[in-house]
Amino acid sequence: MSTIEQTKQHIMSTYGRNEVVIVNGHGATCYDAEGKKYIDFGSGIGTTSLGYCNDAWAEAVCTQVKKVQHTSNLFYHQPQAELAEKLCAMTGYSKLFFGNSGAEANECAIKIARKYSFDKYGKGRHTIITLVNSFHGRTITTLSATGQDVFHNYFFPFTEGFRFAEANNIADLYEKLDDTVCGIMIEYVQGEGGVMALQQDFVDEIRKICNEKDILMIADEVQTGVGRTGKLLAGEHYHCKADVTTLAKGLGGGLPIGVCLANEKCADVLGLGAHGSTFGGNPVVCAGAVKVLEFLEQPDMLDGVLEKSKYLREKLSALEEVQEVSGLGMMVGIALKQKKAADVLKACIANGLLVLTAKDRIRLLPPLTISKEELETGTEILCRMIHQA
Ligand SMILES: Cc1ncc(COP(=O)(O)O)c(C=O)c1O
Repeated sequence: MSTIEQTKQHIMSTYGRNEVVIVNGHGATCYDAEGKKYIDFGSGIGTTSLGYCNDAWAEAVCTQVKKVQHTSNLFYHQPQAELAEKLCAMTGYSKLFFGNSGAEANECAIKIARKYSFDKYGKGRHTIITLVNSFHGRTITTLSATGQDVFHNYFFPFTEGFRFAEANNIADLYEKLDDTVCGIMIEYVQGEGGVMALQQDFVDEIRKICNEKDILMIADEVQTGVGRTGKLLAGEHYHCKADVTTLAKGLGGGLPIGVCLANEKCADVLGLGAHGSTFGGNPVVCAGAVKVLEFLEQPDMLDGVLEKSKYLREKLSALEEVQEVSGLGMMVGIALKQKKAADVLKACIANGLLVLTAKDRIRLLPPLTISKEELETGTEILCRMIHQA
């Protein structure tokens, strides 16, 4: 039986998969079972930030897997401690919690916001405001936090205590605010919601409200974080530091990780027994994530990401069929005038380029390490397919 048939027969059909079996890859290039070559502008939905099988990353992962593959969080190990120290030093946060996914990181952030308020003000201050069109994960609680009606079906009852304000609408934000609110959670760039960046004045207002009312500001940087937008954290574009920031996707370089970072105000909210995760902070995953951060620490690396994104954005903006190029850095959304994003995606795959979609837009999340040659070739295919599809 073929890989595709095996998958269709035995795995729940929750994903709209493309009919490509990816077998191996290096850099931003991969190959399917027939040896067909693709340039990958999707990076496993923003996870393989250093591309396929980056040498330093693969070496660190393989070395660690032969030393200790897992311990449990009842003991200590060096890769976890090293990654935690590095993350805190690079981001300026005080402490963190390790999980395995973006949803898990956001669950932790929600717990911190609620317990911070509970500890200080008692019961009743539990509401989290999130934004319309947001996406925060697939667990029942993170679905509840997601501000899209399409996700609020079937699985009733959902977790209570979430309210949705329109992005960039300060008046609506104030309307949703009352004395029960303990957190405001945002994505600086709504990824799944269509690659839409927030406006500066809206972010400023959230920070101001949170400071004035002792509400925790939570930045879901699961997709925007770890260099994706050309800064380590997308909040840097806005000169904004949330009280809690969540990371996942690109941090692991392709292995599962989720992190919830907390500032000094709420670093000790979760004490002994308040939270846990069997695999969270696994040594192999942490050893790889250290290499991702070491890559981002190199001088000019993030400027290089911005330069590559400038090239991509300029080429795309020049196309007659392109209505708008949205997002920040290497998190790119493309709104088309007439054509359908899904048709362009199919044409790209047929011509050796992997891309993503978000709502009715084409979405690009190329590896941060993509070479000039791969970038130019991929951009040429994409522009040609937008023209032809
Ligand atoms: C902003 C954001 N938050 C949370 C998630 C959920 O992450 P995960 O699928 O790792 O649980 C995603 C995934 O796309 C995301 O983009």
